[in-house]
Amino acid sequence: MTRASNGEPLVRMEGIVKRFPGVLANDHVDFELLPGEIHALLGENGAGKTTLMNILYGIYQPDEGQIFVKGRRVRIRSPRDAIRLGIGMVHQHFLLVDKHTVAENLAMGYAKSFLNPLREVKARIRDFTERYGIQVDPDAYIWQLSVGEQQKVEIVKALYAGADILILDEPTSVLTPQEARDLFNVLRRMREDGKGIVFITHKLSEVFEVADRVTVMRRGKVVGTLRVEEATKEALARMMVGRDVVFELERTPGRPGEPVLEVRDLTVLGDRGREAVRGVSFEVREGEIFGIAGVAGNGQRELVQAIVGLRRVKSGSVRVTGVDATNRSPREIAELGVGHIPEERLKFGIVPDMSVAENSVLKSYYRPPYRKGLLLDYGEIRRTAESLINEYEIAVPSPDTRARLLSGGNMQKLIVGREIRRDPKLIVASNPTFGLDVGATEYIRKLLLRKRDERKAILLVSGDLDEVIQLSDRIAVMFEGRFVGIVRPEEVTREEIGLMMSGSEVLP
Ligand SMILES: Nc1ncnc2c1ncn2[C@@H]1O[C@H](COP(=O)(O)OP(=O)(O)O)[C@@H](O)[C@H]1O
Ligand SMILES: [Mg+2]
Repeated sequence: MTRASNGEPLVRMEGIVKRFPGVLANDHVDFELLPGEIHALLGENGAGKTTLMNILYGIYQPDEGQIFVKGRRVRIRSPRDAIRLGIGMVHQHFLLVDKHTVAENLAMGYAKSFLNPLREVKARIRDFTERYGIQVDPDAYIWQLSVGEQQKVEIVKALYAGADILILDEPTSVLTPQEARDLFNVLRRMREDGKGIVFITHKLSEVFEVADRVTVMRRGKVVGTLRVEEATKEALARMMVGRDVVFELERTPGRPGEPVLEVRDLTVLGDRGREAVRGVSFEVREGEIFGIAGVAGNGQRELVQAIVGLRRVKSGSVRVTGVDATNRSPREIAELGVGHIPEERLKFGIVPDMSVAENSVLKSYYRPPYRKGLLLDYGEIRRTAESLINEYEIAVPSPDTRARLLSGGNMQKLIVGREIRRDPKLIVASNPTFGLDVGATEYIRKLLLRKRDERKAILLVSGDLDEVIQLSDRIAVMFEGRFVGIVRPEEVTREEIGLMMSGSEVLP
């Protein structure tokens, strides 16, 4: 047992400062972790959470500040030092060696000598299963495991190395709701065992579900640390965002009309040449939001790219307002009345080095009123940008500012505004609020609902299940390239959708 004596903090970080070129990622941060607590580190994207924990794990050196582990001042120069101090970290994007089994993977990483037979490794894995309820099969090959299972292996790896301080960086972003619940149970059992757990998240609901205390970060600074039973959703949101946040969305039932998008038997190859989308059929009607839920990586990205012309269709068809759009160019598809709010904003949404003004006409500059003969009318382009900036409340010094300098929320408003201004019949929105602050998120969600009520057809793909449930009139759940089912949100529970996300069919 590695319980720290007399309630002394397992970790104390004091006055941590970390600068990256142009960014103060951690600005005099104080943080403390006690034995037997789950401590949520909450903040929006870019708040500095990962940086702080990467410092504790020895990946970065702080520019200023001190770290104490179990009462002793330490310098953590590398993850190896961190592991020696009993610190383990499961990164947001972890990487295991593919071609080995779970047990081999552990034996490789931490064999202290050649006297570390697989038998012993397996016995210890079984011990963790018993003690904490983590289910992993030591003989499974890593490549056979789902991301959720690989995450368990990462946790087991940390335990195996003797961690009594465990850092998890946004662990639920790759999990179904059921897998997340299992993970929380494991964490609770570790807590009982006296371990200290840092749980990085930007989701308020997870703080209330699993944490004992919460430290909120905003723009590199700690805003405060609270006991969770003393916190409210509203208070935490205000700390996170720096202003009041409205949670409730007004929503009336949709009144779907004619089909605008018709997808038949669509098969699309992924980047590695495997079938990422496998025979998917559906339609999206005017006046409806059709949501696609699923754990990221189940073909959603490829499906969207095929619909908007960014990826080739292998077989099947895509029709927009009755016109065949299969394997047409992105510009042709846009001209059919399709607006695209892409997931990869800097790649497909804006041209980062062009101005806000140029970006605001990215898909129509080649037409009047912007183009007159061979010349572009810059006055007209600027006027369009100014009206977008006003209408969509985009915070930017001038239309001439480079688009890359916009914050995530303002960049998204620019993209959404530009797409909607072209008055599309179909809006394809892919993770439209990912990484946005709570205010910008509400803005975008309300706008999508308003466009639905203005009779637009909306295809919403989102890894945020709550978002899909909140906005959609119908929900398809995607798993391994197929639709497991199409349901209405009022007819199923969140739990049932979660089950479908792991591939189980649920009969309505
Ligand atoms: N290696 C790096 N180089 C440059 N800037 C970085 C690096 N890592 C993080 N940052 C910046 O530091 C800030 C905090 O990032 P991060 O700690 O990842 O935030 P969070 O985990 O809360 O989303 C962001 O502005 C980010 O762009
Ligand atoms: Mg992070």
